[in-house]
This record gives sequence, structure tokens and C-alpha cells, in this order.
Amino acid sequence: MDRIRIVGGNQLQGVIPISGAKNAALPLMIASLLTDDTLTLENVPHLADVEQLIRILGNHGADISVNGRRERQGESYARTIHFTSRNIVSTTAPYELVSKMRASFWVIGPLLAREGKARVSLPGGCAIGTRPVDLFIEGLAALGANIEIDGGYVNATAPEGGLTGGRYVFPKVSVGATHVLMMAATLANGMTVIGNAAREPEVADLAKCLNAMGAKITGAGTGTITIEGVRSLSGARHRVLPDRIETGTYAMAVAMTGGDVILEDTEASLLDTALEAIRRTGAEISETNSGIRVVRNGAGIRPVDIVTDPFPGFPTDLQAQFMGLMTKSSGVSHITETIFENRFMHVQELARLGAKISLSGQTAKIEGVSRLKGAPVMATDLRASVSLVIAALAAEGETMVSRVYHLDRGFERLEEKLTRCGAHVERVSD
Ligand code: UD1
Repeated sequence: MDRIRIVGGNQLQGVIPISGAKNAALPLMIASLLTDDTLTLENVPHLADVEQLIRILGNHGADISVNGRRERQGESYARTIHFTSRNIVSTTAPYELVSKMRASFWVIGPLLAREGKARVSLPGGCAIGTRPVDLFIEGLAALGANIEIDGGYVNATAPEGGLTGGRYVFPKVSVGATHVLMMAATLANGMTVIGNAAREPEVADLAKCLNAMGAKITGAGTGTITIEGVRSLSGARHRVLPDRIETGTYAMAVAMTGGDVILEDTEASLLDTALEAIRRTGAEISETNSGIRVVRNGAGIRPVDIVTDPFPGFPTDLQAQFMGLMTKSSGVSHITETIFENRFMHVQELARLGAKISLSGQTAKIEGVSRLKGAPVMATDLRASVSLVIAALAAEGETMVSRVYHLDRGFERLEEKLTRCGAHVERVSD
């Protein structure tokens, strides 16, 4: 199994190209099941999760061809992928496939809307809490679906004549359930109104693509989404929006090590709250023509408190990275996680590098230390793993991160992007 070896101490200087967003690419790929025509997605990141979803969509009958690359400094950072599901050959998403990635559960929406039935295994994914599917079930039931859970599978069927538009107000904000309900409603009879919808930019990106396919969606990106059902959807061509989590991660890496880096092909408006928090730590952040410039000079890292929240709040997917940054702050900071109940597994690994962190319920108290020291650590989930990389970049000596398959699920060419900016990061294959 691969490991990543990091020798800390270097400042970051240069340009980092930001990839297309994993969390947009996945629902966009799944939306291709809604049409028998071809959906072409540009700027799709090359990640293990994308490869896994390609296998899952293929199992339902999608023909998938990959071509077109985005070149940068002689390396390709993204692909154009064509998805054509002329016929759906299976409406079952089996345990062996779905258990590897939670988002694959989302095929339930398009399969149910287009074929009138779906049998989808209950999901797996990152071990960051219980992550139930009750909101998906309630939402789809509001469109008339009949849903039963049996033997680890969710069996959903639409009434004769298909799903019907309905009104559903989420009791809790869910990104995935908003994606699924919005996709299912595009082909329902009549009008659907989704209240307390997730406002994440990836939801708006999916709606933009669905509208290009002929859907009639308004309000995506706000708390209320209205969908007027149409008979069928056509193909389209859509460019995946930039990855705001990758953007924030590298911005925090620069704030941690010091230096001067341009994050290219991204947009500050996708992560205002996180950038503001990074600014308060002492880094200078400015917008450039092509992206964002992050600079931190000699001054130390100021302690800053954050609380995670649904968009536009501070993203839970940047919580671990921010904790990595706070380990070297000049004082005491607090981080409160409100989205997932078990998302502090990085704490004990950061402690191995010398961080001083104590937990009380959903809040971590971080007492900044003046030096971290490299150590062997283990990646525990996708975002937690990259917090270890951030800390290791500023630690003295060598850190070996094992279980890097977590990183490969969500960060395209991480070691290359950092190495080009002067960091000492290499992949070691055993
Ligand atoms: C998505 C993101 C993930 C991010 C998360 C929150 C993708 C592929 N993944 O995950 O990176 O961390 O949003 O921003 O886009 N919940 C329920 N019942 C449900 C569904 C969710 O109780 O039926 C709960 C979850 O356990 C969690 C909260 O709702 O506590 C938010 O989860 P949700 O927004 O659904 O996360 P995902 O869509 O899985």
C-alpha cells in the first residue's frame, strides 16, 4: 500500500492548479442516468471516487468514454468524460459497489425517476458518523415513491404513471438528499418545491447542468428550490465547477508554511467564510484574474475559533485542515463540529506530531505549539488525512502518512502539486 513521505520546513512558492470539484462531479455523473442522450462533463478530476462511480454507472448500462485533458506544466489535471445511458440495464446498485462510496447511493433518484424503480444498497463511505438515509426516503416518499428497506437494500418504486411533484421541507440540511430529490423531481409530473434545501455551490452546479439538459429548476443555491417536471431530458455539455475544498486546503497549507502561492482556476466566492477565517490567522488573500493569491510572511499564525455549518458557513470538509493549521498558532483556539458527530479522528494523529488538542463533546480546544515534529501517522478519512499533510509540511523532520488511499479519493495529484511549490513530498510504494 502506498504511503506519503513528507519532510517539513519548506515554504510554499508557486502556482497550484485547482481541480474540478469532486463533490460536484459525482452528482453530475449520476445525473447522466436521467437521459438516454450523451452528457459530457469537462474538468472532471481524476480521483479514486470518480473511478468507482464510473464502475457503478457502467453496471447500470452507461457507456462511458474518457478523452480530452487539461494540461498544466506538462501534466494533465482533468478529463472530459462522456456518459451515455441509452438503456438502463439494471436498476440494482449492489452492496459490493455502493459500500465503497456513500455518494453512489444517490443513483436511487435518477433510477426511480426514469425507470420507476430502484434497488440500492444502504451506503458505506467515510467512517465519520452514522450518516443515515432517512431524509432521502422521506423526500422521495413526498414525490409518491413507495419505499421499503429489506436485507440491507432500499427498494423504491414509483406509482403507475411515475413520480408526482410534491412539497418537502427538510428537517435538517442534507447535501446528498437535496441532490437526489432535485434529480428525481426533474422527471416527476407537476411541480416540486424543496424547502430548507442545501445551498452548497455544488447543488447550484448540478441544477445548472440539469437545466442545460432541459429541466426547469429555479432557486438552486437558495433554501427553496422549485422544479417543474418535464417529460424527458436531453444531453448537454457542462464544466464541473472548481473544488472549493481543495482550494481551502492549499490556502491553509500556505498559511501554515508561509510563502506565496497562486491557486489557479478557482473562485474566492465559493469559500468566503473559510477564506475569511484564514485571513484572520494572519495570511493575506487576494483575488487575481485566474484565481486566488495566498501570502504569509514571517508573522506567526493567530488563533481563530470556528464552527462548522452548512453553506455559506465554514465547511465541515475543511474542519480537519483548519485544525492542522491551528496546531501551530500562537494561542488557544476552538473548533466546533456541528455537521457530523464523529469527525475528530485526526485529533489523535495530529497529537503524534506534537499537537496539543483536547476534546469536549463536539468542540476541540487547540493549544498552539511552537514546533511540531515528524512521526509516522495514519490517514483515517478523506479530509482528516490531508490535515496530517498540512501539519507535516510545517513539522521538523520526516512524517510518513500511511493509508493514503483516503487521500486518493479526493485530492488529485497532491504530492505533485505541493512538490512543484517547493515542498518535500513523495509517494512511497511498498
Ligand atoms: C456531502 C459531501 C461531504 C460533506 C457533506 C456536508 C459529497 C459527495 N459529500 O455529504 O463531503 O462533508 O455533504 O457538507 O458531496 N443526514 C441524515 N439523514 C439523511 C442524510 C443525512 O441525518 O438521510 C445527516 C448526516 O448524518 C449529517 C448531515 O445530515 O449529519 C449532513 O449530511 P449530508 O449533507 O447529507 O452529507 P452528504 O451529502 O453525505
